[in-house]
Amino acid sequence: MSETSPRLRAELEGVPTYKPGKPAAADGPVAYKLSSNENPYPPLAGVMESALAAAGSFNRYPDMACTGLMAELADRFGVPVSHIATGTGSVGVAQQLLQATSGPGDEVIYAWRSFEAYPIITQVSGATSVRVPLTDGEVHDLDAMADAITERTRLIFVCNPNNPTGTVVRRAELERFLDRVPSDVLVVLDEAYREFIRDPEVPDGIEIYRDRPNVCVLRTFSKAYGLAGLRVGFAVAHEPVAAALRKTAVPFGVSQLAQDAAVASLRAEDELMGRVGSLVAERTRVVEALRGQGWTVPETQANFVWLRLGDRTTDFAAACEQAGVVVRPFAGEGMRATIGETEANDIFLQAAEAFRKEL
Ligand SMILES: Cc1ncc(COP(=O)(O)O)c(C=O)c1O
Repeated sequence: MSETSPRLRAELEGVPTYKPGKPAAADGPVAYKLSSNENPYPPLAGVMESALAAAGSFNRYPDMACTGLMAELADRFGVPVSHIATGTGSVGVAQQLLQATSGPGDEVIYAWRSFEAYPIITQVSGATSVRVPLTDGEVHDLDAMADAITERTRLIFVCNPNNPTGTVVRRAELERFLDRVPSDVLVVLDEAYREFIRDPEVPDGIEIYRDRPNVCVLRTFSKAYGLAGLRVGFAVAHEPVAAALRKTAVPFGVSQLAQDAAVASLRAEDELMGRVGSLVAERTRVVEALRGQGWTVPETQANFVWLRLGDRTTDFAAACEQAGVVVRPFAGEGMRATIGETEANDIFLQAAEAFRKEL
């Protein structure tokens, strides 16, 4: 028998593995998980009922075309059904976008640091990542990103608000940037945290895409709508792009539970957005308290805060864990903490204060 192993694509070598947020320990001191930007509220009863009703027929495949959800989304956002494509979370849709646009020899531009799935899905596609550092203010450097465009550029991610910094790009600068992008390069506005934005100068990507055929908007049910575990996200884009996304989708990827829960969530939007409002109020409280302790906190429009801690990052994360909250450290750079339950946020603030005093 031959000893050679099956041949795998060379592009897979060195692909960083996606690090999920560390879970809260089941026993011991750690009680709260603030490491994955999840929604701390439990599912709404009505949404749970829809999902459980769908569970009664999980011997059947789901509706592959997500007909009910697509119709609901089209109505909710005032876009044609043909402009919508769904996927297994918005990260699934992002991967479909890469498959639809990019391969070996092509370039994908994104800010760095940004969402950690971008380098992974880019490398898996065979394309080359072009990372453009955030500005000193932790914001996308859109001029530098436009300067980085070459003939090989196929796709550009603009993460707005940016994960993990929470910072945003505003209307005028985004429009100016989009005017500089060639019409055959796809710009993906990743708006996973859109519902948490309160800055009126931040444009709604769905308004921007209408006049721009090379703009695709990514949204998710995982954050504001609290369906992270069910895996459903979607894109809004003009027909050629949306159609390509349907071609690159995993057949039957979005479960019926997810589809029905998403529809129920859209119908319960008022209640869910009330919860988002409470999280935004908590965000204001946490940011003000951190600044009061002396920390530099970039303006966040998402459900998390970012502290650039440099060499002290892992120590800070360990101190938080010791206190009872798990945050998301990026060693040598900084840490991101999700806005969670009030009690969790309080523990985080106490840990941050104690750490600060020891500096
Ligand atoms: C910026 C950004 N985009 C997309 C996603 C993917 O979310 P999901 O695949 O759950 O929709 C995340 C999740 O953390 C994110 O932070």
